[in-house]
Amino acid sequence: MAFRRKKISVVGAGQVGATCALMLASRGVGDVVLLDINQGAAKGKALDILQTAAVQLFDSQVRGTADWADTADSDVVVLTAGSPRRPGLSRDDLLSINARVVASCCREIARRSPGAVVIVVTNPLDAMCFVAKRELGFPRERVLGMAGVLDSARFRTFVALELSVSVRDVQALVMGGHGDSMVPMPRHCFVGGVPLPELLAPERIAALVERARRGGDEIVKLLETGSAFYAPAASVVQMAEAVLLDQRRVLPCAALLEGEFGISGLFLGVPCVLGGRGLEQVCDIALDEAERAAFEHSASRVRALVDDLARLGL
Ligand code: 2OP
Repeated sequence: MAFRRKKISVVGAGQVGATCALMLASRGVGDVVLLDINQGAAKGKALDILQTAAVQLFDSQVRGTADWADTADSDVVVLTAGSPRRPGLSRDDLLSINARVVASCCREIARRSPGAVVIVVTNPLDAMCFVAKRELGFPRERVLGMAGVLDSARFRTFVALELSVSVRDVQALVMGGHGDSMVPMPRHCFVGGVPLPELLAPERIAALVERARRGGDEIVKLLETGSAFYAPAASVVQMAEAVLLDQRRVLPCAALLEGEFGISGLFLGVPCVLGGRGLEQVCDIALDEAERAAFEHSASRVRALVDDLARLGL
């Protein structure tokens, strides 16, 4: 029986896409195709990444292309194409530009890789997942958005800095939409097994929650010419590996809700089990009153964006 290596296509060779390609290749989970309408950027970055193999010692093949045919039969497709956030441009402002990009890419993905698990990264994330699901026509198990891993990573980082402990020992969960209304969950944050509220005063926790909520903006302001890409790419890689290696990781991801948390028809960040089939399970955990109110507020913001898509004929 012929051995077939896993194939991952990364759509969009910008900062997030190229960094994803580098991280995926260097972890050796499969061969990587980096696609961009700018063929030179895709080919140049892919060749540069491939040449790191000689130094970092990995066996993944990396190929740049502008031709969708090269993505055929991918196991996982990471969709990063679209305009990035810029200072003064909110995630929501990106709606109409990126909906068109996501829709046209998803039509190609559906045609070329009908069995793939698709991880959407393009912002505004939850609305772009909605467009992707519609255009792909895939079951919800195979359309996921990357946001919760990143948002939780930011919250964990700030908690670790505050307490001066290793971030390895900080577990956290951030739910809801990927935007200002995201819902960091201090009650579900543990430091070496100890609940965060036992370690920090409520006002310090509130400050860390606020910093996590604005984590993307903080980097946009500092960079001036773009948005974060290292931590977003690392977060995608964690999700992709969970699928490619059938790890059954429990990670917060944007998933299409079908009644869980009392919501249907919207993508929102929730704890998920990720494995070989993609979304193996949504963990429909109980929320307390404040968490539920915050989650429902976040859902209403995502619903407003989805309604805008319809109003704009997108
Ligand atoms: C972020 O939060 C760009 O959405 C991305 O940094």
